[in-house]
Amino acid sequence: MNKAVDLIDKLSAQRTLTVEEYKYLLDNRSPDVETYAREKADFFRQQIYGNSVYVRGLIEISNICKNNCLYCGIRGGNTNCQRYRLSAEEIFNCCVEGYKLGFRTFVMQGGEDEYFSDDILVPLIKKIKSKFPDCAVTLSLGERSKESYESLFLAGADRYLLRHEAADEELYSMLHPQGMSYSNRMECLKNLKEIGYQVGCGFMVGAPYQTTEHMAKDLKFIEEFGPQMCGIGPFVPHKDTIFKDQKSGSADLTCFLLSLIRIIKPNLLLPATTALGTVEDDGRERGILSGANVIMPNLSPEGVRAKYDLYDNKLSTGAESAQKITELSRRMEKIGFKIEITRGDAKGR
Ligand code: 5AD
Repeated sequence: MNKAVDLIDKLSAQRTLTVEEYKYLLDNRSPDVETYAREKADFFRQQIYGNSVYVRGLIEISNICKNNCLYCGIRGGNTNCQRYRLSAEEIFNCCVEGYKLGFRTFVMQGGEDEYFSDDILVPLIKKIKSKFPDCAVTLSLGERSKESYESLFLAGADRYLLRHEAADEELYSMLHPQGMSYSNRMECLKNLKEIGYQVGCGFMVGAPYQTTEHMAKDLKFIEEFGPQMCGIGPFVPHKDTIFKDQKSGSADLTCFLLSLIRIIKPNLLLPATTALGTVEDDGRERGILSGANVIMPNLSPEGVRAKYDLYDNKLSTGAESAQKITELSRRMEKIGFKIEITRGDAKGR
């Protein structure tokens, strides 16, 4: 018998493995094992979500960032990055346009830009939620104080994405400058959950220094933390970082991880990230077929999209026209899925 296949059966039955068992799976994946995991993932996803795919309108509100994460193209220390920030009015207008196109979740994502204080965000979130009460607002604005997370939640924000980046403290510190800490990251995630947000964590696949043991720990973290969402995508080097000569993370491995994560938590909202599409042009389809059930088309104004330059060759085609949404729907239909016009909250357990 194939031990990796047995472990996938065990994971399917018990939703838990040891770190060593996860590592064994990652070290022993083969096309057959990947196919087996994909079929299990598809089965569990189908039970809960049928063939629905949810869309999120992604609004990249600012690429100004006080942090200097060593892998990131918009890190504060990158003087080659052309900075921009959207006004509250521009952000609201993105929602107006997005609503017409059928989006019922808006994701405000940005660098850690101090301009976006609670005084700016609270009225903006309230305005979006009162104008579009049938929509969810997701924030992805990095580390903030517990008080700030509370104020934004009270203003109406529903979900918060904060990738944990690395569940191994040593790896975390190798990817981040001094002054950013693993413990603060974990504290933020805990706070978000306590407050009542639907929370998303996540990590890059194939990040510098990352081993299969690290990724096994990431899977264990996801299993134990129990997020509602999880964003994973391949690491892609950026020319203005010390990791510029590293190679990109593997799309195959990313897809295998998506399948495993789906099996760990069948009702997870799991996006097929654009970074997967950077590595190959059918990344989104592959991501969905591997177990993902969310896609996040870009609703940012056309003029700023290319500037949200996290990694080289990041896709910056948007979802700004009905025609593009139709095209995306067709791509999903071709692989047997259907884009839903709903908030797309997590179902079931
Ligand atoms: N490659 C892939 N993903 C990246 N991110 C940042 N830089 C890169 C990169 N070079 C991801 C990180 C972060 C989010 C803003 O984007 O995981 O959480």
